[in-house]
Formats: sequence, structure tokens, C-alpha cells
Amino acid sequence: MKRVVILGSTGSIGRQALDVIRKLPGKFKVVGLAAGKNWHLLARQVREFRPDAAVLEREQELYNLRRELASDRPPDLAWGRSGLENLARLPQADIVLVAVAGALGIYPTIAAINAGKDVALANKETLVAAGHLVMELVARNKTALLPVDSEHSAIWQCLNGQERRAVEKVILTASGGPFRNFSKEEMENVTVDMALAHPNWQMGNKITIDSATLMNKGLEIIEAKWLFGVSYAQIEVVIHPQSIIHSAVEFLDGSIIAQMGLPDMRLPIQYALTYPERMPGCCSRLKLTCLQGLTFDAPDTDRFPSLKLAFEAGKTGGTMPAVLNAANEVAVDSFLKRRISFRAIPYIVGKVMEKHLTVKQPGLEEIMEADCWARKTGVALIKTLVTI
Ligand SMILES: NC(=O)c1ccc[n+]([C@@H]2O[C@H](COP(=O)([O-])OP(=O)(O)OC[C@H]3O[C@@H](n4cnc5c(N)ncnc54)[C@H](OP(=O)(O)O)[C@@H]3O)[C@@H](O)[C@H]2O)c1
Repeated sequence: MKRVVILGSTGSIGRQALDVIRKLPGKFKVVGLAAGKNWHLLARQVREFRPDAAVLEREQELYNLRRELASDRPPDLAWGRSGLENLARLPQADIVLVAVAGALGIYPTIAAINAGKDVALANKETLVAAGHLVMELVARNKTALLPVDSEHSAIWQCLNGQERRAVEKVILTASGGPFRNFSKEEMENVTVDMALAHPNWQMGNKITIDSATLMNKGLEIIEAKWLFGVSYAQIEVVIHPQSIIHSAVEFLDGSIIAQMGLPDMRLPIQYALTYPERMPGCCSRLKLTCLQGLTFDAPDTDRFPSLKLAFEAGKTGGTMPAVLNAANEVAVDSFLKRRISFRAIPYIVGKVMEKHLTVKQPGLEEIMEADCWARKTGVALIKTLVTI
């Protein structure tokens, strides 16, 4: 039985991970759960899974959780970043699923790796901002970093049993999001509700907006570079609206191996949790004879400049990817609060990147300083905008 900690258990990935665990009785024991503000749902999860420890973002919500669980035998309760990091290094845990959203994920990921835990990583911002540090720590601590993002899980599965030097390139597929066929003019009038209606995937709000701008694919390019040790020239993005091929690898001899399935995040979550085993589980099945057709197109970086910005940030390296990520987080947050237009998101990211003086080979402190600077610069820029 594997003992699992889930960070972000009330979110889209966290809830689906608990569903995977629920459907595989006797295979896992949940030993720790962490959430942000949703103490109601965390209380229900604690009652169902009986973890040894639970963490919330703030003391205020923790107080509510403590009161709610007073009549039960409550787990150890803590709050804040230190609570999250301590949960990530819980002695009895075998594997930590990092499914919090945003750059916050860096701290518990590093804590878990340093404590020798295997990490199932859903949080892509961690590798975007601090990829070189995280991969170095994984190598030094001889732990496993298991991808949960569906594209990276697909590439990981395609690479199984293959020699890395035989890889010509990795092919990341993207659905293209809800505005795949919109003209630049049509994109002027995109609303928050339109952007949150993803055609294929049910996800948290931030990643859904990132999918609509294609920044999600941009972040995944940088994530792929670190996970698979490829150069940016070896990463190709292909628009595949049906989201059936989750990604592929092309080898030196021209052979392409792709991983397919219905768009259901429980499959990559389960594979990361059960690895190296495969188990029946609860995921929806793809019937090839029901497929109407699979199409593939090159992305249009003129209509979707976020993709170009991400390639630029990745190639520049140093603190620039952390700046790209942080500027994007504040811009997406402002869009979700209806303060800026959809088209202003990549504009703000580009402007913040232009102002940044990159630090090469940064340590964690410099990365977090750059993250903080980019947030402040992004917020100041947003204040000067009416709508772009
Ligand atoms: N959703 C997907 O299909 C998908 C696919 C691939 C990769 N990812 C990546 O996985 C990560 C999570 O995505 P998501 O869609 O699941 O996001 P989400 O639905 O917004 O969930 C985020 C989770 O993080 C928790 N959280 C926020 N602040 C926290 C804090 N300070 N301390 C502890 N927990 C905190 C939230 O808690 P509360 O809700 O209680 O506030 C929630 O449980 C992101 O990095 C995303 O890019 C997601």
C-alpha cells in the first residue's frame, strides 16, 4: 500500500486524485491533505480518508476546520507555507502529489524532494520557474519526479524503454482552446465566461484561461525541456482539437510513438500514483471505431502570442521563465476579476518580460525575487490600462 500526501486536495486535480484512490481500494492510504480556503470540502475529505495531518492556507479557515472536526478524532492540523512544507516531508509518506496552483508549488516540491519522497507533479509552474534547481535536487536525492500533466505523462509513457539519445523531438499536442478559430478582431470581445468554457477539459480557472491563451502550452514547453532533457529546438507544438493524442515522441529513425486516450485527467494521475504498475481504475475508455477523425495544425503565434513569449523566456533562461509565469499569473487573475481584456494578458506578460534584467543561473532566492518583482511590475502596468 502506497502512503500518499495530496497538496491541493480540494482543486480539480486533487479531487480527481481522491477519486482514483477511492476506486482502487487497498492500494493507497491517504496520510496528508492540504487545501487553500475550502475548509468545508477539506473537512468532508478528512472524514472520508482519515489522514494523519491536514493543512489550510490561513489560520482563520483552520479555526473553522478545527471546530467542524471537534467531535471526531481530528488529524494534526497546521496552516501556511511551513504547514505545507512539513506535510510534504511527512515521515510516513511515500509519494507527494503536488496539485496546488501557481508558483507556490515550488516550496513543497523542494521540501518533498529533499526529504527523499517521490513527487507526482501536476503543478507546472514549479518546473517553469525553478526547473534547473528542481532537476538538480531530484538527481542529488535520487528521487522520482513523476509527471501528471497529460502531455508530459504521454511523453513519459512513449519514452518507456527507449534510449534518450534516440529522441529526435517531442511533440506536444494542444486542443487550441475555445478561440482556436477566432480572428484577432473576434478575440477583442472574448468574455471571462467564454474563456472558461473549455471544449474538452474540466480544469481549475487559472489553467483554463491559460489554455485559451495557449500560455498553458507555453508553460508545458518549458516543463518538457526540464523533464525530458531536450532542447527547445526539439520541442514542437501541434494543434489537435480532439485531444485524443495527448502527445508524441519522434525518434531518430522517423518512427513516431503517440499516447492516446479520452481527455480524462484521472488516467495520468493514476499512472503517476501506481507507477510502475498499471491498474484497471476508473478512467473512461477510448473506442477507436467511434473516432470521427483526428486533425493536426501548426499553431498561429500571431493570434496566440503567449506561445512565442514562452519559447523566448525558455530560451533566455535564468530568471526569465519565472517572470513569464508570475506576470501571467497576475494578468490572468486580473482578467478573471474582469479588470482587463483577454487580449491584454499576453500584452502584460510581454511588457513585463521586456523590462526584466535576467539573472543567469539563479538560486531559489533570486527566482522568488524575480517572481515578486514581476508581480509588482505586472500589477502596476495593469493599473495604467483601461482595456487593451
Ligand atoms: N486541472 C487540470 O486538469 C490540470 C492539468 C494539468 C496540470 N494542472 C496543474 O495542476 C495544478 C492545479 O490545477 P487545478 O486545475 O487542480 O487548480 P485548482 O482547481 O485551482 O486547485 C488548486 C488547489 O490548490 C489549493 N491551494 C491554493 N492555495 C493554496 C495554499 N496557499 N495552500 C494550500 N493549498 C492551496 C486550492 O485550495 P482551495 O480550493 O481550498 O482554495 C486547490 O485545492 C496547476 O499548477 C495546474 O497548472 C492541472
